[in-house]
Amino acid sequence: MRILVTNYRLAGTTVGMAKKSVLDLDASGKRVLVRCDFNVPLEGSRITDDRRITEALPTIERLRSQGAVVILASHLGRPKGVDPALSLAPVAARLSELLGVTVPLLVDSVGESTKATVLAAKPGDVLLLENVRFHPEEEANDPAFAKKLAELADVYVNDAFGTAHRAHASTEGVAHILPGYAGLLILKEIEHLGQAVGNPKRPFVAIMGGSKVKDKIALIDNLLPKVDSLLIGGGMTYTFLKAQGLEIGKSILDSSSLDYARKLLQEYPDKIHLATDVVASDAFSADANTKVVPVTEIPADQEGLDIGPETAARFADIIENAGTVLWNGPVGVFELKPFQAGTLSVAKAMAVATGKGAITIVGGGDSAAAVEIFGYADQMTHVSTGGGASLEFLEGKVLPGIAALQDA
Ligand code: 3PG
Repeated sequence: MRILVTNYRLAGTTVGMAKKSVLDLDASGKRVLVRCDFNVPLEGSRITDDRRITEALPTIERLRSQGAVVILASHLGRPKGVDPALSLAPVAARLSELLGVTVPLLVDSVGESTKATVLAAKPGDVLLLENVRFHPEEEANDPAFAKKLAELADVYVNDAFGTAHRAHASTEGVAHILPGYAGLLILKEIEHLGQAVGNPKRPFVAIMGGSKVKDKIALIDNLLPKVDSLLIGGGMTYTFLKAQGLEIGKSILDSSSLDYARKLLQEYPDKIHLATDVVASDAFSADANTKVVPVTEIPADQEGLDIGPETAARFADIIENAGTVLWNGPVGVFELKPFQAGTLSVAKAMAVATGKGAITIVGGGDSAAAVEIFGYADQMTHVSTGGGASLEFLEGKVLPGIAALQDA
């Protein structure tokens, strides 16, 4: 099967490369190096969200059932050298539970002992290499390190969608040595995210949050021409309000983006939807004093930390009547109870939209964490496992971890 790696930045045109995937691979009798993104949130050694592991299972099961030796590689966190707190041991334990077989953790991702263990493995065995970032050569995309990884296997599968925006040795370098195939999770991500921005069922509604406009400029530029409505929430709201000449009190302001915000409001007056009320607060804390105010009356000594109920209801109405909804970034500080109602309302409205036949996509990162915490993840068409990777994909950038795979 071919997948399209598409640069959607060129409005309306599709500049794509067809890539080989595991659906083109007969892995029987082969040693397969599979790069996953097992960069999961941990509290001590407890995995608090294992979605990146469960989403990797279809590729692993497929290769096992074909009789491959499956060698899994991943990073965890951003270690500077070997760091026992960032060992993949908890992931090996969780994989063993989920697969129903013991998945041994090899103490080093490369080297003679690792090679010997891999060579002794039997068809259907699954092994996990220790955190590849324990070697600084991984992030440097060092060719000698990529070669050492490549020596462990006959073929390479990249299923680490969440890390596909990094050109590292295990995500990119190794694909120049071994024949590289996309895994099933990468196929799924590209299909959903790609369809949302490339061929959306209309009306196409995007919801965007986050604190700084400048972090979202590339995303806004890529999406605005394509969407029917862009709902803006989160900290970005206040830069847009200020651009309209409103007083925003102590709310977060990205002053370097004021001219940009003004330009957008002039160019797309009907597409952009801003808050009309907000939850204003005297402190950034769960026990702050809060009140709902119209955006024209934000007190000088307070900051807005969530969209207000009137805005939430208006946004929900637009979302519930959409054909495609794409969400990137919470609309309030949902980690703190007094400011979670807006984000919860977006998640609920998206679940309603799914029920009415809409395609609902959560673009990863904080919004994915929010739908998970609020219990709505199962009611979305797709929740991306990417944070930075889905952002870059939605910005229209080519992801190097996918680009390096074999053309079909
Ligand atoms: C992520 O969580 O976004 C990926 O695992 C990539 O991690 P990184 O930002 O440390 O490269």
